[in-house]
Amino acid sequence: MAGTLIDGKLIAKKVRGDIQKRVDKLKEKGVTPGLAVVLVGHDPASQAYVGMKEKTCIKLGIHSEVYRLAEETTQEELLGLITKLNNDPKINGILVQLPLPKHIDEGKVLDTIDPEKDVDGFHSINVGNLVIGKDAFVPCTPYGVIVMLEESGVELTGKHVVVVGRSNIVGKPVATLALQRHATVTIAHSRTKNLPEITRQADILIVAVGRANMITKEMVREGTVVIDVGINRVETGLVGDVDFEGVKEVAAQITPVPGGVGPMTITMLMHNTVLSAERR
Ligand code: GUN
Repeated sequence: MAGTLIDGKLIAKKVRGDIQKRVDKLKEKGVTPGLAVVLVGHDPASQAYVGMKEKTCIKLGIHSEVYRLAEETTQEELLGLITKLNNDPKINGILVQLPLPKHIDEGKVLDTIDPEKDVDGFHSINVGNLVIGKDAFVPCTPYGVIVMLEESGVELTGKHVVVVGRSNIVGKPVATLALQRHATVTIAHSRTKNLPEITRQADILIVAVGRANMITKEMVREGTVVIDVGINRVETGLVGDVDFEGVKEVAAQITPVPGGVGPMTITMLMHNTVLSAERR
């Protein structure tokens, strides 16, 4: 049995239609939402992501500022730029693209962003508020995963969600969001013993580890919903963390890579930016 595709591009298009209406409404009131993206260094993947964010802003009529800084930029210079953006009324959202060069303290940088402009949801205050269920900016990739599941008619209540990966950007927040929606949640990671035994228990399997094709057909039970957050560059192009060709034979529903979670991440960033402007 081949599973059905969860089409991230199609769902993103629908959600962006709603975001567009909210942008238009704000503009009628004389408000243009604004997003500032800061990129330090020349990581090719980061450069591509930043370019896509800029393009999507322009399409939706969101004011976009991109700061491309040299690899040697000092922490003080970066913190100075963030402070300037914190105080700039044209800017509703600030995103510092990760990873940062090694000489810069990532936690310090993220905690310098005004929590009310932290559209990535990475400031300690937003992370804490998310965990205790208070109003917070929800990190874009995990948020996109949840919206995809909801739009695909996948109920979370009472389901066993297995998350593979424990990063601050995806694994931990997506587990928190699933828990809030009354799922039973297991987080597996690189030190987990008997990983296939655990992944085979999943009703919903969310994979965010960054290792090409690591989840194989044998690790997935018939009827599982599979969400692949990985994007890995291999000789043949881009592939996910899930061996798509094999796993699609057993999954009930599955996201492709590319065209799955990726378009949703950018969409939720636009949502958070517009939300920030609406709250102003
Ligand atoms: N690098 C990889 N994913 C992300 C993300 O969601 N936000 C930022 N700022 N950097 C990233």
